[in-house]
Amino acid sequence: MSVDSVFRTRSLGVAAEGLPDQYADGKAAKVWELYIGDTQSRTQEYKSWVVSLLREQGVRRVLDVACGTGVDSIMLVEEGFNMMSVDASDKMLKYALKSRWERRKEPAFDQWVIEEANWLTLPEDIQKPGDGFDAVICLGNSFAHLPDFKGDQSDQKLALQNIASMVRPGGILIIDHRNYDYILETGRAPQGKNIYYKSDLTQDISTSVLWVNSKPHMITLDYTIHVPQAALQNLPEVSKFRLSYYPHRLESFKGLLNEAFNGKMEHNVFGDFKTYIPGQSQPPCYFIHVCKKTA
Ligand SMILES: C[S@@+](CC[C@H](N)C(=O)[O-])C[C@H]1O[C@@H](n2cnc3c(N)ncnc32)[C@H](O)[C@@H]1O
Repeated sequence: MSVDSVFRTRSLGVAAEGLPDQYADGKAAKVWELYIGDTQSRTQEYKSWVVSLLREQGVRRVLDVACGTGVDSIMLVEEGFNMMSVDASDKMLKYALKSRWERRKEPAFDQWVIEEANWLTLPEDIQKPGDGFDAVICLGNSFAHLPDFKGDQSDQKLALQNIASMVRPGGILIIDHRNYDYILETGRAPQGKNIYYKSDLTQDISTSVLWVNSKPHMITLDYTIHVPQAALQNLPEVSKFRLSYYPHRLESFKGLLNEAFNGKMEHNVFGDFKTYIPGQSQPPCYFIHVCKKTA
């Protein structure tokens, strides 16, 4: 089975607004770097899909609102986009900052802006250029990290509204989530290759769903990964990790996006980077939403 992210939930730190930073113990970020491996080995399909979409839309300035260790942002800096990259976890940002420092002599990297920011306070945390960015990205199943502690999705609505506010009129938001509909219906993630990362690690995932008031509230994935040369990296050879996500269903997430843009957007859904056809025989692992702000 493929894993889209690997981190520990032990020793949770607290990010802005009292939300847990699941990466706060620093080990998560280390394993994440190990898991995604060399950024040059990103799947070609993913890279060409994102880069062509951005070029088709005439995008120059991009905001990555969940840059983590910087994997997507580095790819886009290398492709000539003008990047601002933010994340709530300083432990994850540490790796992005290190890459920037190491490549600071390259003009594109010298101009790469990296800031700590939380989706819940985004307009206060960063300066929006003029009427906004040409494109905002939130990829790697990141948005599902935001829990619904209040039970009314108000935090998720606020976060999406803040993220949408960063897109200039005519600009686009690209945001994804795992196929939680499939996970909730079958109790397991769809089988298939990981569309985001190429990993040689042997992995297994077990899935559990927490229901509150007859509604799925949280999905917990327990991962077992086998880490080659673990001793060299100060990690156990068989590492077990637990991840928790909010299980966004496709239709309800479309509704949240529509609300975040006040209905003023054109919306396209892709399944694993291909046009999604509801009921298609091969269920996608990920849904990717492309929202174009119309006003
Ligand atoms: C699975 S990682 C993905 C990172 C990167 N996009 C990738 O694919 O490697 C999710 C990231 O979302 C960030 N994140 C979670 N909640 C956040 C929030 N409320 N505000 C900003 N970033 C957040 C985490 O700190 C983490 O770095």
